[in-house]
Amino acid sequence: MTRSTLPGGTFTMGGDVTVTRVGYGAMQLAGPHVFGPPADRDAAIAVLHEVINLGITHIDTSDYYGPYVTNELIKEALYPYPDSLHIVTKVGAFRDAQGGWPSALRPDELRRGVEDNLTRLGLDTMDVVNLRVGGFSGPNTTSIAEPFGTLAQLQAEGLIKHLGVSTMSATQIAEAQSIAPVVCVQNFYNVAHRDDDTLIDSLAEQGIAYVPYFPLGGFSPLQSEELNAVAARVKATPMAVALAWLLQRSPNILLIPGTSSVAHLRENVAGAGLILSDEDLRDLDHITS
Ligand SMILES: NC(=O)c1ccc[n+]([C@@H]2O[C@H](COP(=O)([O-])OP(=O)(O)OC[C@H]3O[C@@H](n4cnc5c(N)ncnc54)[C@H](OP(=O)(O)O)[C@@H]3O)[C@@H](O)[C@H]2O)c1
Repeated sequence: MTRSTLPGGTFTMGGDVTVTRVGYGAMQLAGPHVFGPPADRDAAIAVLHEVINLGITHIDTSDYYGPYVTNELIKEALYPYPDSLHIVTKVGAFRDAQGGWPSALRPDELRRGVEDNLTRLGLDTMDVVNLRVGGFSGPNTTSIAEPFGTLAQLQAEGLIKHLGVSTMSATQIAEAQSIAPVVCVQNFYNVAHRDDDTLIDSLAEQGIAYVPYFPLGGFSPLQSEELNAVAARVKATPMAVALAWLLQRSPNILLIPGTSSVAHLRENVAGAGLILSDEDLRDLDHITS
């Protein structure tokens, strides 16, 4: 069994992909608005080296971050990868010339998406690929049968070990599970945005990882009087409280906070280890999104 001294220990997806519950989301490594190269390439590479130095074994990425930029940085900084490292990617969108995020859910687009991730990252097989549908703020109501079936086909061909989903409702996740096993769900969730509470508990019962994106609020940093008050009481930052709250919320929650800064990365890893009391948790329950 893999052991970790990082807060929260480890979680195993699909029976054989064991990751530290404190992971790293690579989206912030690209340029402004996740478009183009970073302002400081060496700083971005330094963040990735520190991810490994800290013992993190889960990096979340996508070939459409930049586009291509974060995957190129990951390969430049970390290839050949440590055996313990698991890189999780997502497909289902691309970037247009204006920096938009249109869907790319046709079979040929999904196949190209997976193949591009593999090529750019220098891998033969992806450990986990998430099918992303919906918008940043929440799922839509469309059937995911065709695109998820395409990923299941790519899994059968050996390009993908395990499948996950992103920005999906409970109904869509059940539809996906009727096609192939789902090992993780990546949706918008944080201490101030708790729409997925019921879903998280149901996934925990099934041993499926829940990986919240925007754990710190994403493009709009978390702002809450209740969060600030608890942070002041426990002498920590609001970011630390937000991450620690997620780790304590459920054992199947994996953290992928994003940062372009080595200092913030270290702060986040240390902060996630904060132990919140029942009083702290009760006060945080009063946050409204
Ligand atoms: N499936 C999806 O559709 C989807 C959507 C969005 C994101 N994601 C994934 O989820 C990951 C996390 O989301 P995210 O990066 O958008 O949002 P996030 O983790 O909630 O927040 C990132 C923001 O917080 C700042 N930050 C991080 N640590 C900080 C600290 N200790 N102190 C102050 N500021 C701090 C970062 O700025 P600095 O760079 O200055 O630290 C950045 O602006 C992404 O990296 C990506 O891998 C997935």
